[in-house]
Amino acid sequence: MRANDSFILPRTGIILKNRTVLAAMTNKQSHENGVLSEEEKKWLIRRARGDFAITTTAATHVTETGRGWHGEMGVWGDHHIPGLTDLAKGLRQSGTVSLAQLFHGGMRAPKSINGVQPISASVNTEPGMDGIYTRALEDNEIKEMINSFADAAVRCEKAGFDGVELHGAHSYLICQFLGKITNRRDDEWGGDLEGRSRFLREIIKLIRERTDPNFLIAVRISPIIEKAGIYLEDSLELAKILSKLEIDILHISCWDVFQEIESDSKNKSLTKLFKDIIPDSLPLISTGAVWTAKDAKYVFDEGADLVGVARVGIAHPDWPKYISDISYTPQKPPFSEAHLLEMDLSPAFVDYMRAWKGFVIGGK
Ligand SMILES: Cc1cc2nc3c(=O)[nH]c(=O)nc-3n(C[C@H](O)[C@H](O)[C@H](O)COP(=O)(O)O)c2cc1C
Repeated sequence: MRANDSFILPRTGIILKNRTVLAAMTNKQSHENGVLSEEEKKWLIRRARGDFAITTTAATHVTETGRGWHGEMGVWGDHHIPGLTDLAKGLRQSGTVSLAQLFHGGMRAPKSINGVQPISASVNTEPGMDGIYTRALEDNEIKEMINSFADAAVRCEKAGFDGVELHGAHSYLICQFLGKITNRRDDEWGGDLEGRSRFLREIIKLIRERTDPNFLIAVRISPIIEKAGIYLEDSLELAKILSKLEIDILHISCWDVFQEIESDSKNKSLTKLFKDIIPDSLPLISTGAVWTAKDAKYVFDEGADLVGVARVGIAHPDWPKYISDISYTPQKPPFSEAHLLEMDLSPAFVDYMRAWKGFVIGGK
């Protein structure tokens, strides 16, 4: 399989022009009310023109108080639709398939940003939350939250997006429901994996009911987050559960696709472990630490249908155009501010990238 081969998404027949995916990246470039800025549109459309087959937006909050960061694009109100429409149009013109990444920060939606006590599956907190504990959502609030995810998906559909990616990874709200440690509920929304995945499954069902059959749903998960109680066996089981629902793509966020996990006395990559367990009808994206064309080939050889990248796409927006050449080895960080500005990052985004270790010259 080659990175620049096209790929047909089995459920809808939608054709991807190649096998590359720009993974979601928070970039803090939008307005405080969640309305998309010209800078955020420009940055994403630039990557889509670089030939990514799928372009994913930053995580975008589905309720007003679900924000994880200042400058985060929102999708919780109809006033976001005009900006989303502009963005979806720009993305479509480039021939990419567009996904908006829907999320709620849950215990990672700080009071200092949202002005309210954060909520979660159970009473949780974590470093960086000023010692504030969350409030566990009531049953009726969980149903409202599911509705907010579906409302957000409908807004994205109206705006012209091809689909959404549900952010079930990285310890945000959906992930907090999935985790054994972050979800200690004893009602139908907690307990075993069936219960802990109910929140995600109900979101999928409601989006499917309320959007066109061709509207895409991708689900992103973290295979392992021990401190949240996300364990590999459960995540593999979850993948099987999800493969029976009407979703289009499973996206595993590995952070490092090259790490190997011992399984049945053999060391295997996460990509292989998931590929072996899900049917061919559910395409797999695997993301984490891919930089060169050889890295991408490794991910395909391990069984991924699509390769996701984030950081390399910041510095090299035309990455997909070059990876058919197996010797392609784009320059690694740190990058100069001038280079990043040239690549259509705004000064606010460059500043944010200074906090990512070793990414910007003179940064952390
Ligand atoms: C600046 C930045 C922002 C990110 N924001 C998000 C996000 O909003 N949603 C998400 O699921 N992952 C986010 N991630 C994680 C990436 O999607 C990706 O999984 C991770 O960076 C590993 O891939 P890479 O090695 O290709 O960068 C972010 C990563 C970076 C570098």
